Amino acid sequence: MTSRRRVLSRSAALIGTASISLLLPAITRAQSAKLRVGLMLPYTGTYSQLGVAIENGFRMAIEEQGGKLGGREIEYFKVDDESEPAKGIENATKLVQRDKVDVLVGTVHSGVQMGIQKVARDSGVLSLIPNAGVHAATRSLCAPNVFRTSFTNSQPTRPLGAAMVARGHKKAVWITWKYAAGDEAFEGFKEGYLAAGGSIVKELSLPFPNVEFQALLTEIAALKPDAVACFFSGGGAVKFIQDYAAAGLKGKIPLYGSGFLTEGVLDAVGSAGEGIVSTLHYADSLDIPRNRAFRLAYAKTYKLQPDVFAVQGYDTGLLLIHGANAVKGDMNNKAALYKALESATIDSPRGKWTMSKSHNPVQDIYLRVVENKENKVIGIAAKALADSGAGCKMA
Ligand code: BEZ
Repeated sequence: MTSRRRVLSRSAALIGTASISLLLPAITRAQSAKLRVGLMLPYTGTYSQLGVAIENGFRMAIEEQGGKLGGREIEYFKVDDESEPAKGIENATKLVQRDKVDVLVGTVHSGVQMGIQKVARDSGVLSLIPNAGVHAATRSLCAPNVFRTSFTNSQPTRPLGAAMVARGHKKAVWITWKYAAGDEAFEGFKEGYLAAGGSIVKELSLPFPNVEFQALLTEIAALKPDAVACFFSGGGAVKFIQDYAAAGLKGKIPLYGSGFLTEGVLDAVGSAGEGIVSTLHYADSLDIPRNRAFRLAYAKTYKLQPDVFAVQGYDTGLLLIHGANAVKGDMNNKAALYKALESATIDSPRGKWTMSKSHNPVQDIYLRVVENKENKVIGIAAKALADSGAGCKMA
């Protein structure tokens, strides 16, 4: 090597060392800066209580770990999505582009989730779904950066029909709100009910979040089915349970539900809720140490009883803690982060669950009945139930 070339290569090496040492503090800075968490949830409207419960559960999980994620302080950014699908993309974009969140936690409503899904797929931001069960999010539109900690809409209702037939209720009317959550809950119900030998007399619906149930309840009374099965949740579930009793149907035609029907509403509906049988991945009375400890801590912190939405928020926190710890707070280490999230076993108040290949929980579904304003477990309706993940091709 000529002396001129030796000088040049030595100076190139020096420049390289200098730029690496200039870069290192930047990387360390990025990891020591606050980790930005976006919460996109409904804080108004029929699902407002669901949004609050999810945030409560999420924050409780983080606080139990000292309030940090992978050693980093947290800064929260919040958007009220109003359960309004038309604003889904705009609201998710605010969190991703304006607030530059490292992780987007949201949401409740399946239609709004489709907006988040688009933004998550386009931007690559880590997206954790703490409720919305829309099939596409972990089926045809699944993505490496999207993980769900709740359910697919058909998961809780898939085992409901067999439980109804076992109780001698072979002719049912189905009633729901007409949007993805109701339609897909029906899909699961129909599959299980028909397979168990049941028949569906009529499928009734009204637009979300309409609560004018009167005409439909009159129609149910005239149809005289063995039972009614439904999907409603939040404020609308309170009204449906109350109206069902007020119409004189309670005690005459047994009411069954996707378990969301009786979550977070039992104080409000009082005696009208007693005896409703449902299927869900959680029950208040689950007698496992993890659930007992969770319920005590939640009641102490928030002066409220937790429900399935609080559990899902809590589990979203647990999953994020697991991922952030695995990469020591470096959320840009995507390969290691996703690997950790995919292989997590979440020790949840609902019982332990794992992530399916399409990033949706594999979990037990419980058969429950409302007794003394509590969702009591009366059986396991399905063990380690996984969603099909149909059409999910992870890049
Ligand atoms: C949904 O829109 O996906 C949903 C809303 C409330 C409870 C369960 C599912």
